[in-house]
Amino acid sequence: MATHRSLRGALVGEHLAVLRSVETGAGDFRRAVGRLSTLVLTVALEGLEGTGGAVQTPVASAATERAGRITVVPVLRAGLGMLDAALDLLPDSTRVAFVGARRDETTLAPSFYLDAVPEDLSEDDVVILDVMIATGGSLAATIEVVQRRRPRSIRVAGIIAAPEGLAHIAGHFPEIVVTVAAVDERLNEFGFIVPGLGDAGDRLYGT
Ligand code: PRP
Repeated sequence: MATHRSLRGALVGEHLAVLRSVETGAGDFRRAVGRLSTLVLTVALEGLEGTGGAVQTPVASAATERAGRITVVPVLRAGLGMLDAALDLLPDSTRVAFVGARRDETTLAPSFYLDAVPEDLSEDDVVILDVMIATGGSLAATIEVVQRRRPRSIRVAGIIAAPEGLAHIAGHFPEIVVTVAAVDERLNEFGFIVPGLGDAGDRLYGT
């Protein structure tokens, strides 16, 4: 079953309003991406399976469930904007593996310029980070790269998705859950999400 989740409520809405506004400068845009990343990752990682144990509180022994190793995969460039929030939230053992992908502006086909993902992820739960899921091409190519390294699980955390991109991922990877802050209306003829936020990489880095 194809699946994605999106977030609701005015807290998410507040940060999305900042993110979307054409008036927002790079600093506030980066902060909004960070805050939304924390909210999305909290939902995306709900139900992550861990290992049982115990710690001693000042009062008694408390049962624990601790995460195994997580590898986050930010898709350059825009996914890098989610990385600091992810590393703040996730366990200290979390690793980072980079993928570089950019869309050809005419064909919208993704092209890979960096694959710095470890060969063996069999001990890792993976979370792929990308701000935008438009056609879904960049994300699909990233998932294929990650799947070849045989991780324990793969999740995707994003900020804004188009229905077309979510359908593309669901069609190819029905077992992978994509969690985003918002699902927008559609893609326009240039492959931009409507209403969206423009070009996330450009707005994060001022280029
Ligand atoms: C954007 C975005 C995604 C991709 C989404 O990256 O960050 O990676 O496009 O589009 P898709 O779903 O149609 O593949 P972009 O190509 O603008 O590169 P950048 O992040 O380096 O700006």
